[in-house]
Amino acid sequence: MTTSRTPAPALHRPRRARILAGLTALAALLATPVLVGTTPAHADPSTTGRAHAGHGDPLVIAHRGASGYRPEHTLAAYELAIEMGADHIEPDLVPTKDGVLVARHENEIGGTTDVADRPEFADRRTTKTIDGRSVTGWFTEDFTLAELKTLRAVERLPGVRPDSAAYDGRFQVPTFEEVLDLVQRVEAETGRVVGLAPETKHPTYFDRLGLSPEEPLVATLHAHGLRTKKDPVVLQSFEVTNLRELDRMTRLPIAQLLGSGAPYDQVAAGTGLTYADMRTRAGLRAVSKYADWLAPEKSQVLPRTAHGTVGEPSGLVADAHRAGLLVVVYTLRAENQFMPADYRSDGGPNEFGDLAAEITDLLDLGVDAVFSDHPDLAVAARDDWLD
Ligand code: G3P
Ligand code: CA
Repeated sequence: MTTSRTPAPALHRPRRARILAGLTALAALLATPVLVGTTPAHADPSTTGRAHAGHGDPLVIAHRGASGYRPEHTLAAYELAIEMGADHIEPDLVPTKDGVLVARHENEIGGTTDVADRPEFADRRTTKTIDGRSVTGWFTEDFTLAELKTLRAVERLPGVRPDSAAYDGRFQVPTFEEVLDLVQRVEAETGRVVGLAPETKHPTYFDRLGLSPEEPLVATLHAHGLRTKKDPVVLQSFEVTNLRELDRMTRLPIAQLLGSGAPYDQVAAGTGLTYADMRTRAGLRAVSKYADWLAPEKSQVLPRTAHGTVGEPSGLVADAHRAGLLVVVYTLRAENQFMPADYRSDGGPNEFGDLAAEITDLLDLGVDAVFSDHPDLAVAARDDWLD
């Protein structure tokens, strides 16, 4: 096994020249009135950075629960993650036909439930355009909660995670309310604080269907007593508009996810703003007006070389910190196939590599939290790093 155990290289590298469209879009973003003075906390340096989030040590956020070990987004996956010591659990959220938020990574549920085996729902199979992409399958917005509750979760990656697939057919699709109830029950039983990192999926798409997710998200959290900047909650989205909306609706911390290409709301509005624009120093300052966290994909922090090894750090962590943003990186997975070559073991693609080394290198670069499918390994790596 070869691992990257050398000290972290210098964080800074020259910024790339920004394309004209990006400059224009950024200028528009910075000039947009809703970004000016929305939430006083963002303008106050004493409440930016670590002070906001109410924590000091790096966090482990269980990505879709302990999804390396149980079918993702089930109460069993979340409960196991909490038992494994995760600081936060992460429910991705989509609405049902009757407007109830449920935990699924996408609204198409053919890959994570047994819906394809249910003859009573065969006629619900259809093709839709989701965020500009054609998708065929079964969609949460075509099912009432009562109908959805008759389904059972299955492992998304049965070939990779057969031990998790052994739990197929045992668990329901949980509502967001049920996830919160689980967290608060465990907190009452153990005295531990368990955080939440809910993510709104496809918010522009659902707005157009009249199933806006922000209102039930905020109402549910506020009803459970989670409503301040210090509460252990991180509201995430790959889009911009709905995060700005959330910033006006609640004081709970907000994370801007960075993907590739452009946020779909910006595509739909024709602004030209891309994720690359948002990673520039001006872009990060704009994000910090409405968000507390930046959530890049791990290769945006530690880019990969043409050989699949990790290259020179991008400097994004330091730039984000300078803008007053905490940094949470996704997604840390133990199997070789999901890792840069530096951390892989000699086994096949589904064997575990050295996740601890990958996480340690990210923590050395200053990241404030990681999303991981394997919270037990991530917590152990974080704790070793702290020692
Ligand atoms: O929310 C962090 C990470 O989960 C974003 O990616 O696609 O797994 O939701 P995704
Ligand atoms: Ca997510």
